[in-house]
Amino acid sequence: MIEKIQNDLMENGYAKVNNVISPVILSKVKKLMNENLISFLKKKNKKPKSKLNDNFYECKKIVSQHEIQVFLAKHLIEKGVYTEILNQKKIKEILINLLGPDLEYVTNSELAINSKSETDEYYVKKYHQEFWSGAGIASLLFWIPFYLKPGMGTVEVIKKSHTWGHIPHSNREPIELPDNYVSEKINVKEGSLVFFTPFTLHRTIPNKLKEIRVAAPITVRNFYYPKIGNEDLWEFKKLNFSFFSHLRKILGNPQFSPFRTLNQKRKSIFLKEKIKKKH
Ligand SMILES: [Fe+2]
Repeated sequence: MIEKIQNDLMENGYAKVNNVISPVILSKVKKLMNENLISFLKKKNKKPKSKLNDNFYECKKIVSQHEIQVFLAKHLIEKGVYTEILNQKKIKEILINLLGPDLEYVTNSELAINSKSETDEYYVKKYHQEFWSGAGIASLLFWIPFYLKPGMGTVEVIKKSHTWGHIPHSNREPIELPDNYVSEKINVKEGSLVFFTPFTLHRTIPNKLKEIRVAAPITVRNFYYPKIGNEDLWEFKKLNFSFFSHLRKILGNPQFSPFRTLNQKRKSIFLKEKIKKKH
């Protein structure tokens, strides 16, 4: 499986992975999102409904969709859901294989919600590269559907566009594209995902259904790779450490100070001395 993913990524600039997120996590995500919308409505003295979809539209009467996307992602990240997803065995294997074991992911992100009623191009994005938004070349961009019914559509990706470099753009769309290119409308279900490089051109497929589609864009990188994008301005959460990083943590500082850690005996002497001084 890893070999196919490596090949797809190298060859086309993206790869799909089917059935990698457990149904237990998916239902937990849906429950957390709905609870979050309900508590928001209650704070605003509005009566919540039972379904996620209805509560989303109720919230949208009060705040912008962008604000909803931000607070929902923040809640899921705080509850450890992104960590749990990226730690799913197959996903972790893929990440370590492609990026190495020292991993972190972006935490100041937002969800991508799409419905028939919202056509603003902030939500229905034209072809773009994440590089335009500051993602460095060493990142991988995941698109993970949390709520996706048949007929809702997903994202469309241009094959081999990752080899074209930084595409000239204006107003969040390409100024020019090669004459012949092949694109794929990604066909994935809940529990599956797609990921691509920061140079891979992709766009939103409009959701023709009234019910909302919810997906999480998650950026993952190796924290030892140079930050050549806008990563300095972003927030990250560490996901995994190599042996080398663990050892650095144990040693505690880059000067490798000898005998830095107090052993139990010395610790108790130290504490006794402290107590004596108090009296
Ligand atoms: Fe994107």
